[in-house]
Amino acid sequence: MPKIKLNGKEVEVAPGKTVLQACVDNGAFVPHYCWHPGLSPAGNCRMCLVKVSNSRKLEASCMYPCSDNLEVTTEGPEVAKGRQDVLEFMLINHPLDCPICDKAGECDLQDYTYAYRGGVSRFRDKKVIKHTKDLGPNVRIWGSRCIACTRCVRFCEEVAGTGELCLVNRGDHSVVDVFPTIPIDNPVSLNVVDLCPVGALIDRNFLYQARVWFARETESVCASCARGCNVKITALDNRIKRMVPRVNADVNTWWMCDEGRLNTRYLADDRRLTASKGSARDLDAAARKGNFGIVLSTYQTIEEMWLVKRLAEAWKAPVGFLTLTRGERKKFGGLVIEPDKTPNRRFAEKLFGELKPVPAGCKGLFVLNGIPELEGPPELMAAANGAEFLAVSDLRKGPLVEKAQVVLPACAWAEKDGTFMNVDGRVQRIRKAIEPPAAVRAEVAWLQEALGTEPLSAEGVFLQAAKEVPALAGLDYGKLGNQGAASNGH
Ligand code: FES
Repeated sequence: MPKIKLNGKEVEVAPGKTVLQACVDNGAFVPHYCWHPGLSPAGNCRMCLVKVSNSRKLEASCMYPCSDNLEVTTEGPEVAKGRQDVLEFMLINHPLDCPICDKAGECDLQDYTYAYRGGVSRFRDKKVIKHTKDLGPNVRIWGSRCIACTRCVRFCEEVAGTGELCLVNRGDHSVVDVFPTIPIDNPVSLNVVDLCPVGALIDRNFLYQARVWFARETESVCASCARGCNVKITALDNRIKRMVPRVNADVNTWWMCDEGRLNTRYLADDRRLTASKGSARDLDAAARKGNFGIVLSTYQTIEEMWLVKRLAEAWKAPVGFLTLTRGERKKFGGLVIEPDKTPNRRFAEKLFGELKPVPAGCKGLFVLNGIPELEGPPELMAAANGAEFLAVSDLRKGPLVEKAQVVLPACAWAEKDGTFMNVDGRVQRIRKAIEPPAAVRAEVAWLQEALGTEPLSAEGVFLQAAKEVPALAGLDYGKLGNQGAASNGH
């Protein structure tokens, strides 16, 4: 293991690491644009300049290998001057778009300029204007803002494997573009927007939707497949404006898929179910008459499933399941898109064993759906048609809701607290990012009402479940933190 001196302190570095990696690992800040831990290094922005003992000039730390006894200095007037000059060069053609740019507030160019530049430009000539156009269904480019770092180009080649993006033209006319007639349209295309360190690549769905400093960010988990990618939900005026990935080496690395990001529109659907009919107590009274069945979707949280299991025991009711599978397993670097389009099937299997089909021939039926894309599959409709009493909890109005005597509107995953167990058995928290419609109560509240137990928060219910479900033994919300934790036996 080579030993280097980083800002006067001796540190050991794994063989083959670059100076920038050593700085990142040891908490020494080095500004950078083109380097990204999930991509191959390119060494073209020069923002990561540092002073090293065996060179007379400043060196780009992302390309400089660590060697024994190397002395590295990441701060000081000489380094700051080098970074200032790099920024001055970049800003020559960069427009002052911050007041209208969606990246403002989370832009590395803005932040480093604030940190290193004096705010005055010496450039008196005309700036080069480059194209502004759509590169694909979800991605638009403002070419004049592009600093040609090529992160997006490398992502399409190395992670997406589709290679739609390339750098065209030379010198100060260099800009990212697509080949004519081949737009960037792959299942993970929006990661290039997160990767863009400036505001050149913009998510068309987020365009002019929110200034990020007014928006609220909530750390949660995507519910669109069984992978459970870690995400940040950006919300403004109680509307979800976008979702971006959070780094979790055990789940999704740095990426997430476009489908997961964009699968939030149903929350504000005109057909959203907002009014209840009857109550949880009516449901309990009907269920206690006997010959009652429960249909549970694998979109429900661990806490909700646990409460349903207790209700099923109290009512002596068989439980059948609603699930949704579509497409094939797809892998993009450290990201896997699962065919199981529900977030909590793994826990349902742990709690109930093999998932049984919808129970048929019951006099009464209680359906907890909540799968956004699923509206009354034929086997469920047949069971519901044959029942005398029907209670439904769902997100949207539909044929099943029309038939029901008791309707309890469901909270969407972004409107409640809880946990999911992903396909690998990792338990992760979801957090309430927006308020549900006024009359909609969290499922854990009315499920406990039906049970007739003391009302606990989702966290309280989880603690109860953790005492009795071996897979959850020893876990609590504190231990799950922001990155989740492996369940018992994984
Ligand atoms: Fe090192 Fe860009 S981060 S040259």
